[in-house]
Amino acid sequence: MVDSDQNRLSVALVDVNDGCEAEFLTLARTFASLVLRKGYGRAETVRDEAIPSRFYAVRHWSTAAAAAQCHADAEIQAVTAKLYQIARVTHVVNGVRRPGQSRLLVDERRARAEADRRTGFDRRARDDGHAEGERRAGADRRLGPRRLRDRPGEIDLVGAARRAREHADAAFSHFKVGAALEAADGTVISGCNIENATYGLTICAERVAVFKAISEGHRAFTRIAIVADTEAPTPPCGACRQILWEFGGNLAITLANLKQEKGTHYLKDLLPLPFDARLL
Ligand code: THU
Repeated sequence: MVDSDQNRLSVALVDVNDGCEAEFLTLARTFASLVLRKGYGRAETVRDEAIPSRFYAVRHWSTAAAAAQCHADAEIQAVTAKLYQIARVTHVVNGVRRPGQSRLLVDERRARAEADRRTGFDRRARDDGHAEGERRAGADRRLGPRRLRDRPGEIDLVGAARRAREHADAAFSHFKVGAALEAADGTVISGCNIENATYGLTICAERVAVFKAISEGHRAFTRIAIVADTEAPTPPCGACRQILWEFGGNLAITLANLKQEKGTHYLKDLLPLPFDARLL
């Protein structure tokens, strides 16, 4: 489906809160008729056959510009604001690309990250004339992930990590972990911990996410969310910090439990003096 209409398709997972299904279906109908009436395209809502309260929100945009207009439309925003109050929305496909560009609409600023993770190291190694911690102003201001994160309509990375955690296979420790890694093009790749009878071959949620992402062709990453069902946050273990550093560079790492976020850290602070390819 994605391939057949690769420039104009968006899909989001919508997990509707208990008891809110009727309200959700009304909102979905309102949304669909607005999208149609205003010529933005066509919106459909598909119910997941196996998972109660899960729907797929599929949007077929008439053009990339129409998708952008739709996101900026106040009437549409009023509907989506209500939706976010009664459902968890995870954007899984954002196929809207501007003609002639390979940037994704939602995350085009993120897409400025270089395609090769090693350039992350180069960037940090280079003296760019700015003292560490110095604030940049005007045109030199950085568009960092801080201001891109989790506004309504953007990717709910913590939600994706919570969802991934449900797949954890933690028969020995009973400690289930979920992770969701965001690639520079906005794709979310999730992972869960997987244990086995030898114990030692256990793999953490974070590394599952990284290796899945690499195997699917992603090479640049912006942030990761890690979720466990504990009051104290669960930071990545040492092995995962190494892998995250080598494949993701200075990622923003958000730690959360099932109810709330517990903070965001940069990987350079969790792994000072790292070993990596620059030293070989
Ligand atoms: N685990 C993770 O998946 N990620 C972490 O950040 C910490 C630990 C897993 C490994 C093992 O399956 C279980 O949690 C207990 O250590």
